[in-house]
Amino acid sequence: MNLHVIILAAGKGSRMKSDTPKVLHTVAGVPMLHRVMSISKRLAPEQMHLVLGHGIEAIQDTLAEQWSSTNIVRQAEQLGTGHAVNIALEHVPNDGISLVLYGDVPLITAETLERCVAIARAGELGVVTANMSDPAQLGRILRNETDSIEAIVEFKDATLQQRAIHEINSGILAAPTHLLRGWLAQVQPNNQQGEYYLTDVVALAVNDGVGAQGILVTDENEVIGVNDRLQLAQVERIAQRQHTDELMRQGVTFADPGRVDIRGSLSCGADCFIDVNTVFVGDVRLEPGVVIGPSVVVESSHLGTGVQVKANTVIEGAIIGAGCHLGPFARIRPGSNFAPGVKIGNFVETKKTSMGAGSKASHLAYLGDATIGADVNFGAGSVTCNYDGVDKHATIIGDGAFVGTNSTLVAPVTIGAESFVAAGSTVTSNVEDQSLAVGRGKQRNIAKWLSPLKRKQKSTPED
Ligand code: UD1
Ligand code: CA
Repeated sequence: MNLHVIILAAGKGSRMKSDTPKVLHTVAGVPMLHRVMSISKRLAPEQMHLVLGHGIEAIQDTLAEQWSSTNIVRQAEQLGTGHAVNIALEHVPNDGISLVLYGDVPLITAETLERCVAIARAGELGVVTANMSDPAQLGRILRNETDSIEAIVEFKDATLQQRAIHEINSGILAAPTHLLRGWLAQVQPNNQQGEYYLTDVVALAVNDGVGAQGILVTDENEVIGVNDRLQLAQVERIAQRQHTDELMRQGVTFADPGRVDIRGSLSCGADCFIDVNTVFVGDVRLEPGVVIGPSVVVESSHLGTGVQVKANTVIEGAIIGAGCHLGPFARIRPGSNFAPGVKIGNFVETKKTSMGAGSKASHLAYLGDATIGADVNFGAGSVTCNYDGVDKHATIIGDGAFVGTNSTLVAPVTIGAESFVAAGSTVTSNVEDQSLAVGRGKQRNIAKWLSPLKRKQKSTPED
C-alpha cells in the first residue's frame, strides 16, 4: 500500500517572534522542516505533501532540487490541524496510507514513524504518544479501563482531571487514507478554539470500531514541539548530544562533548580528538587520528589522516592531505588543496591555492590563486599580489623554491623550481629555475654618521 506523508507547517509560529517562518529555524544547522522531510524520506513514501501558509514563499525558496517533487498545498487560513490535513487529502489517493507529521517536531525518528505506519497498514489508527514529565499545554490521551485509547482532549478543552494525565499526543498519526478522509469529514469546530481539530479523529475511529493504537516513545525528547526559542535551544542541545554520542561510539574523543557544535554532518575515522569550542559546519570528513582545537571552525572540508589543527584556525572548503599541520591562527579559505605534510603556521591565509607535499608557510603570509610545488618554503611576511583591483591573477611556484621573508610576488608570475627569492624582494617578472631573484634597493652604509641628537650634544657642551 502506497504511503503518503502530510507535513503540517502553515502556522505563524508567533511565539518565535521572528521574521523567519518557524519551520526554517535550524536545529544542528538544518531547518526543522528539512529535518522532518529527510526523516520521512527514509520511509520511501509515494509522495510528500507540505501544507504551508505563513511564509510560504520563503519556505518554497528553500526547497530547490532536493525537494522539487514535494507537493505544496496552500492553506490560506489556518482553521486547524484537521482542516490542514483535509485539504492535503484532496491530493492523496484513497487506496493507501497517510502519515501526518508536524514541521515543528524535529527530533522524531524514522523507527517511531515506521511503527506508526505499520499500525495503519494493519487497518487501524496509529497515534504517537509520550509520557511527559511536564505535559504542559499538550493534548492529553484518554484511555479506558482496559487501557485502550478512546480520545484525545486538547489542554484548553480538558477538565482538571484530564489535565493531570501525563500521556500526551505528539500530533503524529497514521491511518488508511479512506478512513482518515471519512473521519475528517465529520470533524466540527465546536471547541474552545473554534478550530477543526485533527485529534478528533481518534474518538471518531473508536466510534467506527477501528482501533486507535498508541505508539509510546521511550525517549520523550523525540516528540518535543518547538513553539519558542527556549524550546528551540532545548532541541538544539539534544540534537548536538545525539551527534557527539554517535561519534564517541565510533571512536572519537571529545575533550567535552558539551562544548562542540556540529551544524551539518561530521563523519570521523577512529581516534580523532576534538577539543573544546570547535564548530563544524556543512559536510566535514575527518580521517583517522585527526587532532583539532581548541576553538577551531571547520566548514565543508576533508582532513586527511593524522592532520593536526591548532587553536583558533578557520578552515573552509578545503582538502587537507595526511599529516598536515595547520595553525594556530591560520585561515584556510575555499579552494585550498594541500598535499600530505604541508605546514601552515600562525597568521597565514590561503585561498584557491594548492601546495605540494612538504611545503611550508610558517608565519604571516598570504597565498591566493597560487599553485605551489613540493618542498617550497614561503617566508614570513611574504604575499602573493593576486588582485589588481579588477582581475585575479595566478602565481606559480616550482618544487623546492625558497621565497625569502617579506617578499611581494606580483601576479601573474612564475617562480621556477629550486629558485631563490631574496628577502624583501618585489618580484614582477618570472624567475627561471635554479636562479636567484633580488628585487630590492641596494643597501648603503654611511660611515661616521651622527644622529641630530648626538650632533646637538656635541655643539653645546654641558655646564
Ligand atoms: C497540536 C495537537 C495537540 C498536540 C500538539 C503537539 C491538535 C488540535 N492539537 O496542538 O494535541 O499535543 O500539537 O505538538 O492537533 N497547522 C497548520 N494549519 C492549521 C493549524 C496548524 O498547518 O490550520 C500546523 C502548525 O503550523 C504546526 C502544527 O500544525 O506545525 C501543529 O499546530 P499547533 O497550532 O502548533 O497545534 P498545537 O496547539 O500545538
Ligand atoms: Ca505546536
